[in-house]
Amino acid sequence: MARSLTSLASAAPAQVSRGGTADEELRAGLMAAVPTISPKYLYDSLGSSLFTAITLLPEYYPTRCEAEILREQASRIAYHVGRVESLIDLGAGDCVKAERLFPVLQPTRYVPIDISADYLNDAVARLRHAHPGLEIRALGRDFSHTFDLPESVPAENRLFFYPGSSIGNLSPDEALALLQRIHALCPGGGLLVGVDRVKPRGVLEPAYDDALGLTGAFNLNMLRHVNTLLGSNFRVEDWRHEARYNETESRVEMHLRAAADVLVKWPGGERHFARGQSIHTECSYKYTVDGFADLLRRAGFGKIQHWSDRRDWFSVFSARA
Ligand code: AVJ
Repeated sequence: MARSLTSLASAAPAQVSRGGTADEELRAGLMAAVPTISPKYLYDSLGSSLFTAITLLPEYYPTRCEAEILREQASRIAYHVGRVESLIDLGAGDCVKAERLFPVLQPTRYVPIDISADYLNDAVARLRHAHPGLEIRALGRDFSHTFDLPESVPAENRLFFYPGSSIGNLSPDEALALLQRIHALCPGGGLLVGVDRVKPRGVLEPAYDDALGLTGAFNLNMLRHVNTLLGSNFRVEDWRHEARYNETESRVEMHLRAAADVLVKWPGGERHFARGQSIHTECSYKYTVDGFADLLRRAGFGKIQHWSDRRDWFSVFSARA
């Protein structure tokens, strides 16, 4: 246990993004014509805890819908998925969703992958106690651009698990590219992925702008995380959370809007934001069943099956490589 927890912790900082450091990506985003911070920076330790709290909110339906599907369709899903040797959990977080599938899927090996290595560390320590017979290979890294699996994860019978509609954070083109990479990594295996569905604005917007303000805190906390990574001087009190459904693009967008004129500085750069100007921090794409099935097919997957909650708000897709 100590060995892999150590490797987990040391693997994390070096692999935050492709072809450069987190710093370069952040700087480029802040200087862009449409200022942007990638949603992966939502998940420092506090951000991951805030997200867990969000999933308990009445307005935030996706987690409950998905849990309902995984609970009520478990045996059908297990049947479609077939034999699982390695369960590879993309964006594992607290690992709770995958853990619920252990009894039905009975994997030999569990491979949680998450950019927030600290958060994953705690979850893995707990899992090792709860499931002493399960082989666990935790990887603290960002899989959003490229990823490979260590040789200790055999190629046979891999099931990639990508729950929570996290794939919605990618544009459809980026989602296709990720699905193609997953497809290449699981010959003879498969993918189980949670997808949020297109639905009325009146349901979507409160889910991303809740009455308690937790989603606002989650979005704003990103500025503190960026300050830590970049040495910038964002002041949370200068910014306001915003969420709106962009129907044309089929996505909920989160923004941080400047409540005053602010000058943000970091080592080697600065940017002036006029009052009312905003930073785009997240897209959360919503799909129709046909739209997502089409994406899976274009990535090379076959035997596509899906299950939905009783309101048809969310779907879990299973596909074979
Ligand atoms: C974890 C990416 C699925 O898009 O719904 C929650 C993140 N953002 N509230 C989502 C999120 C605002 C969430 N995902």
